[in-house]
Amino acid sequence: MIVVHTIQALQDALKNKNGIALVPTMGNLHDGHLALMAEAKKHAPTVIASIFVNRLQFGPNEDFDTYPRTLEADLEKLEKQGAVDIVFAPTEKDMYPEPQKFMVQPDPALSEILEGYYRPGFFDGVATVVNKLFSIVRPDVAVFGKKDYQQLKIIQKMVKQFGMPLKIVPMELQRDKVSGLALSSRNRYLSEEELKEATRLYMTLNGVKASLEAGAIDLTALEQSAEKQLREFGWQPDYVVVARQSDLLTPTRDDLLNKEPLVILGAAKIGTTRLIDNVEVF
Ligand code: PAJ
Repeated sequence: MIVVHTIQALQDALKNKNGIALVPTMGNLHDGHLALMAEAKKHAPTVIASIFVNRLQFGPNEDFDTYPRTLEADLEKLEKQGAVDIVFAPTEKDMYPEPQKFMVQPDPALSEILEGYYRPGFFDGVATVVNKLFSIVRPDVAVFGKKDYQQLKIIQKMVKQFGMPLKIVPMELQRDKVSGLALSSRNRYLSEEELKEATRLYMTLNGVKASLEAGAIDLTALEQSAEKQLREFGWQPDYVVVARQSDLLTPTRDDLLNKEPLVILGAAKIGTTRLIDNVEVF
């Protein structure tokens, strides 16, 4: 495994390489990320993991400065796993040598709801850096996790609408095998007590799933009761929403009756840590 820190060094390492899979990350790698690397290896002979904490996708009051940067430990994990051939860990100066003024602006119908509502500008920052990484790496395949469900949808739409010559491979959301907690770099902000409580978000989404499977069709009631439940256990929920998998819009009555593929998305704060999770239905 080689590690490069500049665009030039990366492009030198990629000369004469055919079949490239890219896994973009912000580092602080956990088993969820590693599952993406293993998946990437199935799709192309050369796997590149990028590690870059992208300033553009953090709001002014978010955790850009404190976001865990653990390059040494990340490299050790990747080396041990053996799926990644090249790690691209650029500096801020290399990715943004001048202020990034050209931004990719996703369709607001997809980017200003849910996460985008609570984190204005977030998906512009994500789409812009991912677009830039695609230009730099020119991968044939890129793997994204369903943990960030809306992000995956936006990237898929970007690739489709710009005719970008690569395939997006979605990866299942990876959970802690015992508790079911969605693996996340932000879990490390949780105290021991919060960590125990953290799985309630998943349990709550599963409760909504069970109701939908049992034929419930009053979505507002389901969503409100899920949020109320979280509040009763000390959480501050931003949303629990039932959406169509295809476009993240509200399912119609027909969608529900026809059991169209749905997803229940949730975001809530426990203490000062904001967690997201989701569960697919049908
Ligand atoms: P990051 O949060 O580091 O996540 C990198 C990739 O790992 C994303 O595709 C994310 O969905 C996936 N991932 C994280 N936890 C996962 C889990 N428990 N199961 C499955 N996949 C998981 O997402 C980003 O970084 C950034 O927005 C990025 C795309 C790198 C752009 O800066």
